[in-house]
Amino acid sequence: MSTRTAAVVAGLGTCLPAAEFDNTSLAAGLDTTDEWIRTRTGIAARRRVAPEVSMRDLACEAAANALSSARLETAGGLILATTTPDRPCPAAAPEIAQRLGLGQIPAFDISAVCSGFLCATAAATGMIAAGITDSVLVVAAETYSRIVDPTDRSTAVIFGDGAGAVLLRRGSATEQGALLAFDLGSDGSGKDLIHIPGEAEQPDEQRWFSMAGRKVYLRAVEQMTASALQVMKDCAWTPETVDALVPHQANARIIQAVADRLGVPPERAVCALSRVGNTASASIPLALAEALATGQLNSGARTVLTAFGGGLAWASAALTWPQLTAVTSEI
Ligand code: COA
Repeated sequence: MSTRTAAVVAGLGTCLPAAEFDNTSLAAGLDTTDEWIRTRTGIAARRRVAPEVSMRDLACEAAANALSSARLETAGGLILATTTPDRPCPAAAPEIAQRLGLGQIPAFDISAVCSGFLCATAAATGMIAAGITDSVLVVAAETYSRIVDPTDRSTAVIFGDGAGAVLLRRGSATEQGALLAFDLGSDGSGKDLIHIPGEAEQPDEQRWFSMAGRKVYLRAVEQMTASALQVMKDCAWTPETVDALVPHQANARIIQAVADRLGVPPERAVCALSRVGNTASASIPLALAEALATGQLNSGARTVLTAFGGGLAWASAALTWPQLTAVTSEI
């Protein structure tokens, strides 16, 4: 058996805003219905931060929870994935590291929209493999309620706020929790399918997040299927031997279509967006915590993570799920 060095998932933490908004509460001001939202997306409610809560507050809580899940007090690096920075400059990761008392560790943000968590996980794995540090907190935090147009029914009902984090530590590829394979890719020709215009592009108007829903839907199914298949091949896993498929939580129909195309039994596809909506980069760690709570995910499970989103960018990873208890909180 291989004893090669690997990054190992050792802790999982999440943080959600306490305030929940169900479909009916949003439908009142928009030309939509609870029925449309449920049947077209699988979403029944989403969380939204209170005005005084920042993306950084969510990120700090989730990161602290991941540390306590790993029973650790410190980490050697911190990478934050977000599309909704509280301030355009500087990156928020150094402040989060400082607020957590982690000292002057390497800390930076990455912007990869819905693939951010897995891209950050890949970067953290590289830092551990290169010997730069022995452990990294990978944090994904989003406050989409601040960038979606509240009058746009095609985005306002879909996105929610939240954060999730994992603690990665140096270990061996034979351990449970070891990240065994990655697949990452991008296609900049789709840059306008999900975007917020820059000030130079649209100087005098309110600049909201926009998404070409149908086009993104079709591409998401195609790309997450291909990318997930690649990491399964790298691990010599066949789809029917995968215990848990955890895709980016954009739409219940996309999740089922990816499982279907892959040939992963539908009950093994984790769909955890019903009460939180699409939380962009935070969706995979939030779905992992939910699947642990419901018993859909257990230690030893052959687990495939896959994400797709703005950029366009996509990423997948494979691991056997470790024995751990997720720590969750609300703010
Ligand atoms: N309520 C009622 N009607 C709505 C609506 C809403 N909330 N949102 C959109 N519609 C309408 C559209 O205006 C359109 O009307 P038209 O045919 O008169 O133009 C119709 O529903 C169908 O729109 P379409 O975009 O084709 O619907 P859809 O079944 O694709 O569902 C999304 C829309 C956004 C839910 C879906 O496309 C989606 O989930 N896209 C991908 C999201 C994703 O993967 N993102 C990844 C990165 S975050």
